[in-house]
Amino acid sequence: MITGTPCVGKTSSARQLAAKLNAEYINLTDFAKTYNLTLGEDKERKTTIIDEEAMQQKLKETIDASASANIIVDGHYAAAVTPPSQVTNVFVLRRNPKELKAFMHKCGFSEAKMWENLSAEIIDSCLVEAVQIQPGKVCELDVTGKAVDENVAEIIEVLEKRKKCYVGIVDWLGMLEQEGILDEYLKT
Ligand SMILES: Nc1ncnc2c1ncn2[C@@H]1O[C@H](COP(=O)(O)OP(=O)(O)OP(=O)(O)O)[C@@H](O)[C@H]1O
Ligand SMILES: [Mg+2]
Repeated sequence: MITGTPCVGKTSSARQLAAKLNAEYINLTDFAKTYNLTLGEDKERKTTIIDEEAMQQKLKETIDASASANIIVDGHYAAAVTPPSQVTNVFVLRRNPKELKAFMHKCGFSEAKMWENLSAEIIDSCLVEAVQIQPGKVCELDVTGKAVDENVAEIIEVLEKRKKCYVGIVDWLGMLEQEGILDEYLKT
């Protein structure tokens, strides 16, 4: 599983990883559209509301029915909707909020959405959810300033047990506080 805050770089790395491992690739944004796993639109937040229960069921069926030895699931809420019994490794991509802000401009978020997502990165939202729901499988990777192929190489090193991985490797809250710019980043 590849998870992390919106626009952190999940899909870029997950697609390359899937190609290298000859794995099946499931992008949850596309999966929700393909199987109509939505409950409607959140007008205020301008996002689609996912039917998490229906998605969990459909994912379980899809993974059970897959002939592939390896499946890569890509999505910022992937940890919450993929049955833990089917998950071996969870990679949470982390990006320094200062760099992520620039990426988010490329992703075309509104100002409000950008600050909401930056706050989520700063308070470790995806990481905490992953550790709660998929304990013992989580590997946090700081992808700040790294190219996609470097991220993929690091993931493969972990999968092949040539590299150990940890959680709690970044502290954006402390970093921004020390630099005196935390308030600016936590506005919503
Ligand atoms: N390692 C990288 N170096 C430079 N640019 C990158 C890197 N990874 C991704 N990008 C760029 O950052 C943007 C977001 O990447 P990507 O779509 O992979 O993120 P995502 O986490 O899948 O986003 P979403 O949650 O919206 O699906 C894209 O414009 C992509 O080209
Ligand atoms: Mg994506």
